[in-house]
Amino acid sequence: MATDHDRADVGIIGGTGLYTFLDDPRPVEVDTPFGRPSAPLAIGEIRGRTVAFLPRHGVQHEFPPHRINYRANLWALRSVGVRQVLAPCAVGSLQAELGPGTIVLPDQLVDRTSGRHQTVYDDEGPVVHVSLADPYCPRGRAAVRAAAGSGEPLVDGGTMVVINGPRFSTRAESTWHAAQGWSLVGMTGAPEAAIARELAVCYTTIALVTDHDAGVDDSQAVTQAEVMRLFAANLDRLKTLLTDTVASLADLEADASAECRCRHALDGLTLPFE
Ligand code: ADE
Repeated sequence: MATDHDRADVGIIGGTGLYTFLDDPRPVEVDTPFGRPSAPLAIGEIRGRTVAFLPRHGVQHEFPPHRINYRANLWALRSVGVRQVLAPCAVGSLQAELGPGTIVLPDQLVDRTSGRHQTVYDDEGPVVHVSLADPYCPRGRAAVRAAAGSGEPLVDGGTMVVINGPRFSTRAESTWHAAQGWSLVGMTGAPEAAIARELAVCYTTIALVTDHDAGVDDSQAVTQAEVMRLFAANLDRLKTLLTDTVASLADLEADASAECRCRHALDGLTLPFE
């Protein structure tokens, strides 16, 4: 069980292909009102900051997107003090110009999932309606941009649609998603972003394009193997970007003008996890 010693400043929820991150982490078992998270938290240091890493799909990739306990994952991170989460994920591209290997910092989200637990305010406790107008933390996004600098090409902005999976989209679904002007399609970004906001945790998605989705061109439709291969090939880039982002977050947190509203989402409410 987590103790006061097990506090962390930043959380990283690793996606497909990212199951470990820190050198020499200590495992911390956490239980939550929603059950166990996908794995014990792995807590360690990056550039002088304490980071809690959590593999979203489990250490053995045992949880498909629709079976991930998003509520437990976010609650577990919050319970060790995390108020800033970086959430890398593998996505398909809905735009021809966003090719495999592109890293995108989305700024909007469309949730087309169903049957997932969407809220931590369910059975009891206060009625809470948080704003999700801007689902991603502006300070987190600025930190990723600063970390990328001129070294790592990054596409800043774009809408990610989240489908339920675990299957990929049909060509018609994919063509429709692209026609809406949306850029990316994934399977895990919702309800993760919403639950983070419900816990007043800043949340930033970093999306790695692994494929062109079925409707983008007439080529062979995406396979799971292709997603895994592409992610593995770009893992070092992503890890470097995450490490540098943890460092740049520290600078931005010291800057009052970079203050965000996400962590005030629950101001004025008395909540069970404080
Ligand atoms: N994750 C990676 N590629 C994807 C795709 N094409 N559709 C949905 N999720 C994905």
